[in-house]
Amino acid sequence: MRSLTIALALFALTLLIGVGAVVHADGLPRPMIVGGTDVPDPNPYTYQVSVGTANSYFCGGSLIAANWVLSAAHCFVDAQTGAVTDAATLVVRVGLRLQSTATIDNNRAVIQLITHPSYDRATSLNDIALLQLATPASADWVVPTADAANDPALTVPGTTSTATGWGGLLGYDPSQSEPTGGQQYPDILHVVQMPIAASEICGINATQICAGEVAGGKDTCQGDSGGPLVVSNGPGGYIQVGVVSNGPGCAAAGYYGVYTRVGSFHNWIATVINPVTLLPQAYLPLVMR
Ligand code: ARG
Repeated sequence: MRSLTIALALFALTLLIGVGAVVHADGLPRPMIVGGTDVPDPNPYTYQVSVGTANSYFCGGSLIAANWVLSAAHCFVDAQTGAVTDAATLVVRVGLRLQSTATIDNNRAVIQLITHPSYDRATSLNDIALLQLATPASADWVVPTADAANDPALTVPGTTSTATGWGGLLGYDPSQSEPTGGQQYPDILHVVQMPIAASEICGINATQICAGEVAGGKDTCQGDSGGPLVVSNGPGGYIQVGVVSNGPGCAAAGYYGVYTRVGSFHNWIATVINPVTLLPQAYLPLVMR
């Protein structure tokens, strides 16, 4: 939800580092409240991008082509009015591990923002968006995406899934709007692994996926929206199956994070990225014998 999105100024992140909330001097990963860890260096999750404005970030995204980012529609659509963000105000940061180290080299302008035409603010269905970058990132950073054919096998309940993001570190109950005492945001990219849950337990639509531990403790949270949920795709490789969409609270026991099911939107993605150029057709005369 737009109202829940964070617009963290980069100097605020510097303050967080100042109080030692997230950055560890020994550089070792630590378990965090939402159950994740700091990503290692070099960062294996090269497809992860940060989506924001000139001096903030508010969502995640993934490079699905060198010049295309997959994200969530709700990151760009005002929850109250339905107004869509002007793409000219957006800055995507690629190849980023620490928000505080972002330079102009990480920045990409957005020349096209396409939110799914059927995105529904009330139900959060079709919560998916595509952003075309003005200048490409490295083609080596791209993550492949699931399609309708391979999706069922990739998302069998119990499969380990991996989510990444710079979203909130503190879990909280669905009855709260944020953790008691406020949320904390990391400077460093976080990664969490959790099992994909059966759709029946989450009460979700077929175009969504849910993931998390029954006991809670591992989840994405505010600020992770639009970021990728991936599963293993052979040695060292990943395939994106979900986009962080919503969830009741964060990491609460008995609740799960809800992700847009990428395999359900493969055709939409393909059409947007590779629009079919309609050439004049030459028709053969139908000869009746
Ligand atoms: N809608 C949130 C955002 O804008 C993401 C929420 C994910 N919540 C969860 N419990 N998994 O950042």
